[in-house]
Amino acid sequence: MSLGMFAYDAFMFYFEKFGLDDMRKEILEDVNGTVLELGPGTGINLKYYDMEKIKSLAYIDIKFKDGLEIKARKKYPNITMIEGDAQKLPFEDNIFDSIVFTLVFCSVKNQLEGLNEVKRVLKENGTIYFIEHVEPHEGILKYVFNKTNHQWKYITGGCNLNRNTEFVLKDAGFDIKIIDRKFRDIFIGGIGIAVN
Ligand SMILES: C[S@@+](CC[C@H](N)C(=O)[O-])C[C@H]1O[C@@H](n2cnc3c(N)ncnc32)[C@H](O)[C@@H]1O
Repeated sequence: MSLGMFAYDAFMFYFEKFGLDDMRKEILEDVNGTVLELGPGTGINLKYYDMEKIKSLAYIDIKFKDGLEIKARKKYPNITMIEGDAQKLPFEDNIFDSIVFTLVFCSVKNQLEGLNEVKRVLKENGTIYFIEHVEPHEGILKYVFNKTNHQWKYITGGCNLNRNTEFVLKDAGFDIKIIDRKFRDIFIGGIGIAVN
């Protein structure tokens, strides 16, 4: 395991155990129809999906983790897995009912470009389901996150601690509903639809 993955997993362990697990359950239970998940990582979200509701499942990731394909095919044998960038999705317009991304847009270089792509491939009546960590609103945490972002980004291989994803989602034309905020609002989970 690389230093980046190790640091990331150690950092995430506490958050998964004391909050994110519940958030994933809450946000992902209604994922349905033709589904695209961006940046699946180790495939952690598979266990939160109700496979009965899913008509097709596609993963796109800039680099798939070893072992993911075997794990994913056990749960969903017909899964489509494509290595690619969220900023340039290799799909036609308007084809997904549900698009899922959890803890991904902290790493996507140009968030607006990626979210515009999400909007493009989402059906008109489709829904996005997301969990992201974002910049703390104020105080010492905001200061510390900004001060250490450069080092954090280096050791994790691209993750930023100070992204304002909630606002960028709105800028990209999504009407979002934040369903849950945890850990002093650093983690947000919600759903959204494209409005313009
Ligand atoms: C921090 S991990 C999150 C994994 C998982 N979704 C979770 O909730 O734990 C970020 C994932 O997004 C992927 N990723 C980062 N930038 C990406 C991009 N521009 N396009 C597609 N995937 C990307 C990474 O390879 C990794 O699998």
